[in-house]
Amino acid sequence: MVELMNAMERDGWAAMPGCVSDADSRRLKQECETAEAAGAFHRAGVGRGENRQVREAIRSDHVLWLQTGELAVEQGLYLAKLELLRLALNERFFLGLFDFEGHFAIYPEGGFYKVHLDRPTGTHDRIITVILYLNPDWQPGDGGELKLWTTCGTQDGTFELIEPRMGTLVCFLAGDFWHEVLPAFKPRMSITGWFSRAH
Ligand code: OGA
Ligand code: MN
Repeated sequence: MVELMNAMERDGWAAMPGCVSDADSRRLKQECETAEAAGAFHRAGVGRGENRQVREAIRSDHVLWLQTGELAVEQGLYLAKLELLRLALNERFFLGLFDFEGHFAIYPEGGFYKVHLDRPTGTHDRIITVILYLNPDWQPGDGGELKLWTTCGTQDGTFELIEPRMGTLVCFLAGDFWHEVLPAFKPRMSITGWFSRAH
């Protein structure tokens, strides 16, 4: 946690391999697969509220929003960890983070998400993006890297390619860091979410 905080302070983003244990990540992956088999996922949209649309040229993942009250055990445990992260971020950076919204995401083979910021136009509430990857045995060549431009606010030549390996947690300022998901050559699972301020 301290390492993550230091990286957030220094860079505005952090990638922490092994942040969640293999055992916990495996159980989360299991819950993700069970929900998918039950048909609980739907095509992800772009935009919010009345502007929400499925746009296949922009993103091709399927998502399941985590709803309090309907959480399986491991999802509850993961949200409890994120709650500690929320409190730590507030304590260190005085961000006033208030809420978390998140979803499982499954990118089918060939799935991608084109370059974007995580704060839809006209909104201000999403402050920090947090992603946990759930892919055991991910190999170079499997694609699906998160390409994160690491200069706050711009898309210049500096970027990191982050492999979506099981247990890796990524955090960044939602409105400032451009990013995309490169085409995945095998199905790719994650939990993506946002800490937001009250609106
Ligand atoms: C998103 C997103 C990145 C990833 O869902 O907004 O950018 O690596 N996800 O899954
Ligand atoms: Mn995003």
